Amino acid sequence: MRLTVLGGGGFRIPLIYRALLDDRGEGRVTHVTLHDLDASRMATITRVLAEQAAGVPDAPGVSVTTDLDEALTGADFVFSAIRVGGLEGRAVDERVALEEGVLGQETVGAGGIAYGLRTVPVADHIARRVAALAPGAWVINFTNPAGMVTEAMSRHLGDRVIGICDTPAGLGRRVARVLGVDPAAVSLGYAGLNHLGWLCAVRVDGRDLLPGLLHDDAALVSFEEGRLFGAERLRAIGAIPNEYLHYYYFHDETVAAARAARQTRGAFLAEQQRRFYAHPGGSALALWNSALLARESTYMAENREAAGAGERESRDLDAGGYEQVALALMRAITLDERATLILNVRNRGSIAALDDDAVVEVPCSVGAGGARPLAAEPLPSHARSLVTGIKATDRAVIEAATTGSRRAALLALAVHPLIDSVTLARRLLGRYERELPQLGYLRGRS
Ligand code: G6P
Ligand code: MN
Repeated sequence: MRLTVLGGGGFRIPLIYRALLDDRGEGRVTHVTLHDLDASRMATITRVLAEQAAGVPDAPGVSVTTDLDEALTGADFVFSAIRVGGLEGRAVDERVALEEGVLGQETVGAGGIAYGLRTVPVADHIARRVAALAPGAWVINFTNPAGMVTEAMSRHLGDRVIGICDTPAGLGRRVARVLGVDPAAVSLGYAGLNHLGWLCAVRVDGRDLLPGLLHDDAALVSFEEGRLFGAERLRAIGAIPNEYLHYYYFHDETVAAARAARQTRGAFLAEQQRRFYAHPGGSALALWNSALLARESTYMAENREAAGAGERESRDLDAGGYEQVALALMRAITLDERATLILNVRNRGSIAALDDDAVVEVPCSVGAGGARPLAAEPLPSHARSLVTGIKATDRAVIEAATTGSRRAALLALAVHPLIDSVTLARRLLGRYERELPQLGYLRGRS
């Protein structure tokens, strides 16, 4: 089985390789081709991978290339984990929005739109090359904003592209632990878009345990989402939101916390990774491990601080994120082993408020034929309107990115519920265009 990883110089690639090394099963990946535009970042990452593989029999071989077509040819699976504009671009996305008084975050609000405007043109190009060179390959999209990017790629690849995120599975794991039930025995009634989903039911043997959990204050304060949103708010919502919904339900607080911080998350990570990739020598793996721990333990730190939620729990630091979801998905496809996973796929009737081609994040039945969405749990009514509103902004971004329409880019910003102003949208777009060279493709009047 040959796997190609786009964005192969990325910081989180060793997480994927570690999961591949641990996989001793039938149909395992035997060769990994890394592709990146930056050969020197890839060289640093391959040093980490070589240390990881030391002493492991049959470790998957690793090769590198900066040529996209060469990377795609012959691939069975393609992981797309690119970051257009790098973390420096992310820092701009976040800073500009915060300076204008609105949320600056990698995937949410103005920051997410700017990131999408940079990324979708590249994702669109990759999808076309995959369709031409590796039409039988499965593409697993890790690239954020994952829902929007997966939808853009699906226009060329149909159901051959599947988007993933670790947050629904992480939420499911935490809820199962609090309920004292085996995560494998729980059916998660999760529905929404990427980073915009709600856990609306938690069934064990057909019985929904969520209503009981929502009335148990002690249980609710014992896990991350319970502490972030608070028992009262969760009961009012009647579901447990994805942690990224903290930016919506507590917008003012999270903006204030981000503005008060010394630097944005993107700027912090950019600085941290500049140090890592400069590799002062010694063990690349040891350096990588300590940078990873610093990253994981500060994840959403401002949200936790704004909510008085305390430190991140150690068991949430290393619970197996994206790479575990990706491996479970690959295994189910390769071996036709039926599995239910929460994935980003085309809706096909799963969420009634959205059309069939809208990419949604819902439980899917997976096998050799790919991922098929199951009928999703009905969403709370306010959640339905958020989902349709954000889908409209995602689609305006895709339109801007694929046609070059500045008008569509402005629309995306203006109608986003966390911006909701044409005047502000105009200012944001003007600043993003000045600071982000990757938006140079936008044309026409806004
Ligand atoms: C979670 C999200 C990802 C995000 C990651 C890292 O796992 O699901 O989409 O990329 O956190 O966030 P960070 O702020 O550390 O880049
Ligand atoms: Mn995610």
